Amino acid sequence: MAGFTFVLITVIFLFLLHTTSFEVDSINQFQSISDGETLVSKEGVFELGFFSPGTSKKRYMGIWYKNIPIQTVVWVANRCNPIYDSSGLLTVNSTGNLVLLYQNKSVIWSTSLFKQIQKPTAQLLDSGNLILRDDADRNSGTYLWQSFDNPSNTILPEMKMGWDLRTGLQRHLTAWNNTEDPCPGGLTYGIQFNPQLNTIPEDFLRKGSEKFYRSGPWNGLRFSGGPELRPNFLYNFKFVCNDDEMYYTYNVRIKLIIAILVVNQFPSMIQRLRWIDADQTWRAEASYPREYCDNYGICGANGICDPSNSSSCQCLRGFKPNSPEEWNSMNMSGGCVRNYPPSCEEKEKDGVAKLSGLKLPDAAHSWMNTSMNLKECKAKCLSNCSCTAYANTDIRGKGSGCAIWFGDLIDIRHIPAGGQDLYVRIRASELAKADRDVTAVIVASVIVVVSGIFSAGYYIGRMALKGGFGPVYKGMLEDGKEIAVKRLSMSSGQGVDEFKNEVALIAKLQHRNLVKLLGCCIQGEEKLLVYEYMLNKCLDSFIFDQVQGKLLDWPKRFQIICGIARGLLYLHQDSRLRVIHRDLKASNVLLDIEMNPKISDFGMARTFRGDQLEGNTNRVVGTYGYMAPEYAFNGQFSIKSDIFSFGIMVLEIISGKRSRVFRPQNDSLTLTGYAWKLMKAGREIELLDACLKDSHDSFEVLRCIHVSLLCVQQRPADRPTISSVVVMLGSES
Ligand SMILES: *[C@@H]1O[C@H](CO)[C@@H](O)[C@H](O)[C@H]1NC(C)=O
Ligand SMILES: *[C@@H]1O[C@H](CO)[C@@H](O)[C@H](O)[C@H]1NC(C)=O
Ligand SMILES: *[C@@H]1O[C@H](CO)[C@@H](O)[C@H](O)[C@H]1NC(C)=O
Ligand SMILES: *[C@@H]1O[C@H](CO)[C@@H](O)[C@H](O)[C@H]1NC(C)=O
Ligand SMILES: *[C@@H]1O[C@H](CO)[C@@H](O)[C@H](O)[C@H]1NC(C)=O
Ligand SMILES: *[C@@H]1O[C@H](CO)[C@@H](O)[C@H](O)[C@H]1NC(C)=O
Ligand SMILES: *[C@@H]1O[C@H](CO)[C@@H](O)[C@H](O)[C@H]1NC(C)=O
Repeated sequence: MAGFTFVLITVIFLFLLHTTSFEVDSINQFQSISDGETLVSKEGVFELGFFSPGTSKKRYMGIWYKNIPIQTVVWVANRCNPIYDSSGLLTVNSTGNLVLLYQNKSVIWSTSLFKQIQKPTAQLLDSGNLILRDDADRNSGTYLWQSFDNPSNTILPEMKMGWDLRTGLQRHLTAWNNTEDPCPGGLTYGIQFNPQLNTIPEDFLRKGSEKFYRSGPWNGLRFSGGPELRPNFLYNFKFVCNDDEMYYTYNVRIKLIIAILVVNQFPSMIQRLRWIDADQTWRAEASYPREYCDNYGICGANGICDPSNSSSCQCLRGFKPNSPEEWNSMNMSGGCVRNYPPSCEEKEKDGVAKLSGLKLPDAAHSWMNTSMNLKECKAKCLSNCSCTAYANTDIRGKGSGCAIWFGDLIDIRHIPAGGQDLYVRIRASELAKADRDVTAVIVASVIVVVSGIFSAGYYIGRMALKGGFGPVYKGMLEDGKEIAVKRLSMSSGQGVDEFKNEVALIAKLQHRNLVKLLGCCIQGEEKLLVYEYMLNKCLDSFIFDQVQGKLLDWPKRFQIICGIARGLLYLHQDSRLRVIHRDLKASNVLLDIEMNPKISDFGMARTFRGDQLEGNTNRVVGTYGYMAPEYAFNGQFSIKSDIFSFGIMVLEIISGKRSRVFRPQNDSLTLTGYAWKLMKAGREIELLDACLKDSHDSFEVLRCIHVSLLCVQQRPADRPTISSVVVMLGSES
């Protein structure tokens, strides 16, 4: 009897606990959430409840990130109908609507479905989507309602911005009026598209009905005016366009990444934000509009804005300023008009001028067919008197699809890197003249590239790449290819000899685990090296950082170790020259978009004849902590001194500790000594970085530790060659 009572009390107690604190992710007709209670998604990513923005006392129901200390509300229900006390109540009413009640009776907000739902359940998903479904009809897999279909000011990963063409539903973002008021302030961001006319879909930021900014039509990879938005290591961007749907979406490639896209009223802009856990802050990774030339239609009709030339306007080929006096006094809003109207009757009189590197014009008056090619597109354009320009709809590969513009061409600008080709219809008689102009454009865009390197370069570059001699800048070639430019400072110590050495050396080396040199430039004192750009910076920025370190799980780290070994094998044995790197370290290994390692910085490398194994130098260069003892003390370098550095690097990759600064507790041992001690005790696995505990393969880890300890032996002769290392890493025994 006593036992029974105990069980009963426990059951009642649990029941009470369950109904008062909502550590659940869903509610139904018999449950509700009052002010102070919250609904938490299954894995605890998002939380739904009542909040007051900023210093406001008004209560709103919304969804925010549960684990981010800065309140980040991603969705609000009663945006313009605040509750003025704490009587708000969210529940599912008897007809199955999700309703927000005020003082128990008046409906402040609801999902407004007009049919009887049998077993309604509202659930907050880990994606941040609040959904309403019918549990009597769970197999259908469809939601009766979802917050993702009614966005506020934020696009979360997997959310769609755009159209459901079957239902006519349009999802767009609306900015909060201000930080204290979630009511829409008039700034909207969405996809513009006219299904009847089959226009080219494009994104638009509007103030009221006025056009404010557009990124340009989607070109298969990105919006035509947003070269930064290409898919990368962190995100996949996608534009879906078929008979049923037309939307933009993105997702993160690694679950740990928290990223959102937000529109703000003041200052009016779209921002892509990523949560940086180490700094406990949101970092803006991109903001639009970025600059003067992004202002909608700033150059008027048929004008092109040029950001590299004091943001000035030019007329398209074959056009002249509408009002030359206004234009010359820098009022360009009047735009440009044709020198000659199109010749509609005699087709042969019209031709097309190809303009490159542009954001394509406003597609309000346009038409597209994604199966036509450029030749068919040209014929189509020249056959219709109102056609003024055409382009490919998809730039992937050789380009495909046909986009046609009618009437004035508005809001075109130069994109210094990654712009597109636009074919503008002009009189054939003007083409000869246009050809001369095209030459001028090419000359101008070369200048753009070079100035692009130096303007954009500074802040991206300083933190972007390797240490070594001189700052590294990020730049872009005209075709959109990203490059790293190493500028050797005059005081860097790398003289003309070392420079030529590096160039001559890397130019001859071609291997997927070595960074590729694309070109170089010597002018007077100025020396530049142009390398392929590595999106993910250097290895040390990952392995020694607690947060970034999580992005490299064990399988990736093992791949990296093997990749470095293969790169070194090529240097030591497979290339026609025998190359000793002399400065192997984590900061000289760059990672590309797929996290493939690339050995870089050959400023100190030495080449040997095929049969020579060892050399001597009076000038010991390299990095303390990675240098083999015989090299550090006697200046003796050989392939075995590189092997020593490799061994140190492998220990660092496994442990996440820097060999230079590592000091185990109460111990004067180095990282190597510590690893050795653990191995003798049979506890090598303790060396493993804590963040690898879940992903590691003990056999691989042990194999790597053993190999690295062989590599860091005192006597060079005892260390294995790199070919043995590659074999040992790859073998099961
Ligand atoms: C709703 O009304 C009932 C009866 O009027 C009252 O007991 C209850 O406390 C009210 N709930 C809220 C959240 O105001
Ligand atoms: C439930 O809410 C919906 C939407 O507000 C409303 O139309 C409906 O009448 C409500 N049902 C009841 C029984 O109150
Ligand atoms: C938006 O906020 C401004 C003050 O910042 C206020 O004057 C205006 O009335 C608000 N608009 C709406 C629609 O709430
Ligand atoms: C810069 O813009 C001005 C004004 O439009 C023009 O006269 C000049 O030729 C342009 N310079 C270049 C290099 O394009
Ligand atoms: C700029 O020029 C347009 C006509 O091209 C004219 O309507 C407008 O008033 C001018 N603006 C200024 C500030 O002069
Ligand atoms: C698009 O172009 C293809 C190939 O030229 C053609 O077969 C198709 O009918 C066109 N579709 C439309 C809607 O014009
Ligand atoms: C030219 O294109 C316009 C806009 O799509 C269309 O209304 C018109 O019928 C076309 N004219 C011809 C001759 O195809």
